[in-house]
Amino acid sequence: MPENLKHAIFCQWLLGAEQMTAVFSRDLHHDYPVAVRGGGMYLYDQHDREYLDMCGGAAVSSLGHQHPAVVSTIQKQIETMAFAHTAFFSNEPQERLAALLVDAFGEADARAYFASGGSEANETALKFAWQYWRARAQPTKVKIISRTHSYHGNTFGALSVSGHPARRSVMPDLLLDWPRIDPCYAYRFQQSGETEEEYGERAAQMLEQAILREGADTIAAFIAEPIVGASLGVVSAAKGYFTKIRAICDKYDILLIADEVMCGSGRTGTFFAFEQEGFRPDIVTLAKGLGGGYQPLAATIVCARISNFFTTSTAGFAHGHTYIGHAAACAAGVAVMQTIERQNLLAAVRTKGTEFGFMLKGTLAEHPNVGDIRGRGLFWAIELVEDKAEKTLFANSAQLAKQLKNTAMQHGLMCYPGGGNAEDGLNCHILLAPPYIVEHHHMDQAMAKLTAILTEVFGA
Ligand SMILES: Cc1ncc(COP(=O)(O)O)c(C=O)c1O
Repeated sequence: MPENLKHAIFCQWLLGAEQMTAVFSRDLHHDYPVAVRGGGMYLYDQHDREYLDMCGGAAVSSLGHQHPAVVSTIQKQIETMAFAHTAFFSNEPQERLAALLVDAFGEADARAYFASGGSEANETALKFAWQYWRARAQPTKVKIISRTHSYHGNTFGALSVSGHPARRSVMPDLLLDWPRIDPCYAYRFQQSGETEEEYGERAAQMLEQAILREGADTIAAFIAEPIVGASLGVVSAAKGYFTKIRAICDKYDILLIADEVMCGSGRTGTFFAFEQEGFRPDIVTLAKGLGGGYQPLAATIVCARISNFFTTSTAGFAHGHTYIGHAAACAAGVAVMQTIERQNLLAAVRTKGTEFGFMLKGTLAEHPNVGDIRGRGLFWAIELVEDKAEKTLFANSAQLAKQLKNTAMQHGLMCYPGGGNAEDGLNCHILLAPPYIVEHHHMDQAMAKLTAILTEVFGA
């Protein structure tokens, strides 16, 4: 087919005159608008419709769209050298990014292993845990304890340790089924008469009970998000929970993996979310906001104890993907981290986050279906309930989440609703994770749109 004819067909399709696609999309029964350009807080489709991005897709676009510093760094890197396979070479961007991440982690001998997405980063973390114990002559330590209503990725191992019923349901018999404990989720699980600290202690104790039930010699690691993102809707742990979890892991010689794929990279106002919880994990994973959507990028940072073990013993770490340490991807990560530093964006996340939370509560707290509004930094969620006093879950939150998302898109707002169903015990929530460059007028715009969306979906 001549090139000009191909181009004409593509343009016709792009304008929606003929909705044909060869893409095996996420939802084959949904007509997606085609994103053609972005700028700052906005994306634009093929009809030049504007979408205010208040969720960064899925907490990805930490610096918004087309940030000139990141774009020019990637451009320069690609012009100089896009890729050099890491089985043959190291490269400057991955060396620089590793140094920045290790410095942020705060342990001189820690090391960073790069991958392309959060699932890969978590698979890498699991393999570090297994190979570490095997190399230390404790091969029975294989199980990974996780939490219900958690999501750690869609690859086999990462989905196995995820406690998200809907996402597991496509292959329940095939996945490994290891112990899971309840999340620390005060809105639903804190008992009346219990202080926050008492609840945190009780929730953490579930880990010790699971370890004792299974036998510490069978457990390799515990994995949790310091702030649960999309599966529950921005749930921070009760005060003291994670320091207690750290102590339990130490007591039974179990590695602690913090999944900061969503809540890390500055999202909550410190580079790592664990910094605000007063503990340091043995392994932490990052993705999404680290590359800011400019490149597919993820990192698994291992503490000095683990990295020193591998560097001083003959046991190598058996793992690898073609694109680990990709030069252009790591250059994006360096540019994102340097921009956060240069523009003082961690402080901005804290102050703007406080303002954002205040606005959300002021605008939406009285709505009869808004059960809870919670968050930290620029990471917020609105939990929706059928009955406010009883905190009743909607029978089909997943369907409601879909409706909310479609309605939001019609209103030119990108937000990230999620949900399961009452049987799973999964709520319906709207997650908001605006880029760190958000300004007051964007938040104002978001409040008006959210109000209109809730009115349209739930009635007046
Ligand atoms: C906490 C968490 N971990 C892991 C993942 C998987 O990341 P990816 O989709 O980049 O593979 C996600 C994705 O949403 C996530 O939110």
